[in-house]
Amino acid sequence: MTSARLKYLSLGVLVFQTTTLVLTMRYSRTLQADGPRYLASSAVVLAEVLKILTCVCLVFKEHSYSVRALSSVLRQEILRKPVETLKLAIPSGIYTLQNNLLYLALSNLDAATYQVTYQLKILTTALFSVSMLGRRLGLYQWLSLIILMTGVALVQWPTDSPGSSEKQEPATGSPFVGLVAVLVACCSSGFAGVYFEKILKESKQSVWVRNIQLALFGLVFGLFGMLLYDGERVKEHGMLQGYNSITWTVVSLQALGGLVIAAVIKYADNILKGFATSLSIILSTLISYFWLQDFEPTSIFFLGAVLVIVATFLYGYEGKPASNPSRA
Ligand code: C5P
Repeated sequence: MTSARLKYLSLGVLVFQTTTLVLTMRYSRTLQADGPRYLASSAVVLAEVLKILTCVCLVFKEHSYSVRALSSVLRQEILRKPVETLKLAIPSGIYTLQNNLLYLALSNLDAATYQVTYQLKILTTALFSVSMLGRRLGLYQWLSLIILMTGVALVQWPTDSPGSSEKQEPATGSPFVGLVAVLVACCSSGFAGVYFEKILKESKQSVWVRNIQLALFGLVFGLFGMLLYDGERVKEHGMLQGYNSITWTVVSLQALGGLVIAAVIKYADNILKGFATSLSIILSTLISYFWLQDFEPTSIFFLGAVLVIVATFLYGYEGKPASNPSRA
């Protein structure tokens, strides 16, 4: 497959995966669950396990289904190159920290403020892409990123629509702590994504081997977090308490998300990933309106959606003539 095809395929799958994940999570919240709730910390661990298993299968396929080649690659690339493997501990550790920061932000800010402020990661990602990867962005592209950020923020602007089942919980705790947490998460999201992109694009190693290394650290950090936060509960009712088919769907979609993000970072880049996730926010909101009917689009939503679409075209507008200057 050509790299341009892989680029658009990975971006398309990301839109599909993010949209399905959001809808499944929303849908699961509308169901009344009996018994204990599932532990979010165990879902993180299981998603990492699933990622590792899937990536091992993909590496197996890359090596013509030879068990010998698979074990030799895993040994050569993961065990025999501890320094290369350790490099992946950095984005993995930052992602773990980020997931906890977002949790802290959510418990101190209302969901809408949190989602709107988190869009600042579009700009931090661009800044890290410029400073760490030497990427150049033209004036139109910077402008389009600012329009994109504004558009996503408007799309997620809180509404008081009568059909909305999601009440805006008033923020409890300290809004300042929440805001600092979300701003640090914006920086960590940009940095970790671009750092992973640098590792992927600077080496010839398969993206799936790199993802195994990333997920191995994710698993270690995740297990540590689970024992720290929910150790007692795990001992009492086990790791899989409260799991049902929806929980397994969310875990699988989250694992798939990690794989798709890795493919997008490899074949496209972190900035384009921002466009794909923004488009999927609009898509999931619209599907949610038609299917779950728990949302009524307002004019602010439509304005935001138009801005996201305009930004997407504007970003590509300058890129084409600049990247193909000699082709008529
Ligand atoms: O908000 P942001 O786009 O930074 O979130 C990226 C998410 O994708 C993180 O939760 C991270 O754990 C996950 N990820 C992954 N595998 C990768 C890259 C990112 O699971 N290769």
